[in-house]
Amino acid sequence: MPLELVQADISQETTCAVVTAANKELAGGGGVDGVIHRAAGPELLRAIRTLGGTPTGTAVITPSFDLARQGVQYVIHAVGPIWRGGQQGEAALLAGAYRESLRLAVEHGCDSVSFPAISTGVYGYPLPEAAAVTLETIRTFLASHPALRVRLVLHGAGTVNVFKRALSELERA
Ligand code: APR
Repeated sequence: MPLELVQADISQETTCAVVTAANKELAGGGGVDGVIHRAAGPELLRAIRTLGGTPTGTAVITPSFDLARQGVQYVIHAVGPIWRGGQQGEAALLAGAYRESLRLAVEHGCDSVSFPAISTGVYGYPLPEAAAVTLETIRTFLASHPALRVRLVLHGAGTVNVFKRALSELERA
């Protein structure tokens, strides 16, 4: 399966599209979004601000601006849910953010896309639960798009371990 779990800084990726964890106002942020905006340059913020926002559980796509120097063509701005205990539709919204990003990457002719662990920082989604939803959603998408290479670019060895455990549980199921 063309799904890779790596511990790295997503702003160093060279895939066709890089996904960032945005907010629904598309106002720019800190965390992984700040890192990607710093790497892409100020035009990226100008580009998303003209879009006026996008609902939680969806994503929008823009050019990559300065990230094009390393081969990245697009930045996909995905809006994951804020964790509110798990009974507020968080799983469906998180799955939507991944699915929509994957769909946009394919629609724009990309053969590779890199994701951070959406919602697992400021938005507080517990890692094991996020990992299960994330991996299931990507695996389901890849079943019908086997040529796409998906990289989950994770911050910290602990996060990678949680995702690896969740992946082996999924593969056992
Ligand atoms: N590379 C890869 N992953 C990273 C990096 C990096 N350089 N920096 C941080 N991360 C990881 C975090 O460790 C976390 O697991 O990205 C994940 C997502 O964390 P956040 O950036 O806080 O995203 P999220 O939880 O979805 O919150 C989104 O934060 O920046 C604001 O505007 C944004 O309001 C939105 C909210």
